[in-house]
Amino acid sequence: MGKKRIVVLTGAGVSAESGISTFRDSGGLWEKYDISEVATYQAWERNMELVLDFYNQRRKQLLEVKPNSAHYALVELEEQFDVQIITQNVDNLHEAAGSSQVMHLHGELIKVRSTRDESLVYTLDGWELKKGDLCELGSQLRPHIVWFGEAVPMIPEAARLTSTADILLIIGTSLNVYPAAGLVSYIEPGTPVYLIDPGYLAVDHIPNLTFIRETAGVGTPKLVRKLLQEAQSGSINP
Ligand code: OAD
Repeated sequence: MGKKRIVVLTGAGVSAESGISTFRDSGGLWEKYDISEVATYQAWERNMELVLDFYNQRRKQLLEVKPNSAHYALVELEEQFDVQIITQNVDNLHEAAGSSQVMHLHGELIKVRSTRDESLVYTLDGWELKKGDLCELGSQLRPHIVWFGEAVPMIPEAARLTSTADILLIIGTSLNVYPAAGLVSYIEPGTPVYLIDPGYLAVDHIPNLTFIRETAGVGTPKLVRKLLQEAQSGSINP
């Protein structure tokens, strides 16, 4: 019998204990920056330097942080399950921990792409992308990030994967940003859902939900241990 599939939807909260700020908590990034000035295509056209600087700082910070116990626990989960991570995060901490299947809905900080041909994507050396850094066609490189107002190209595949989940885990996302937040609606009826987040979230619309009000670093290893034990004793019958 094949392994059961666990789909894990993660947000900024899974990386909070690594030292990366979330967006909407108090002290979060969107309190310090105006979304419309740093995370839209219009901002890029208006003030490229400011946008480059915003993502350069994020990238620089990423070089200084490490995965935490939540990222590592999700790697352990692969011992018994087919684990598919769908993250809204642009950091690479799931990969750094060793997770093997990670889909980035909102892009990746360590990558940049051509402004002329979006299929030309490159991994940046170091943290800094500058005005005048060009793709092979000679046009400016931009952060490989899905900005507000832009399409989220991975959503159809993410929705398909979510519909194949035997179990869904949601970790550290305020479920404020669509279409990512809408993925929950693609689970098959009866699929168990676990949500790990210390915040007070409106989750009445999620069926079969177990809400674990703990931080990712504390709650994820505990839940992973429980799921691995259940898999070993054969007591998971989704
Ligand atoms: P938010 O900042 O909206 O939400 C962070 C969530 O993490 C909240 O529910 C917090 O309660 C929770 N949280 C805080 N500390 C935590 C911890 N230690 N452990 C677990 N959870 C914790 O971040 P996202 O939902 O990820 O998009 O935001 C979604 C998108 O909005 C981001 O991908 C980004 C942002 O604008 C783009 O930039 C395109």
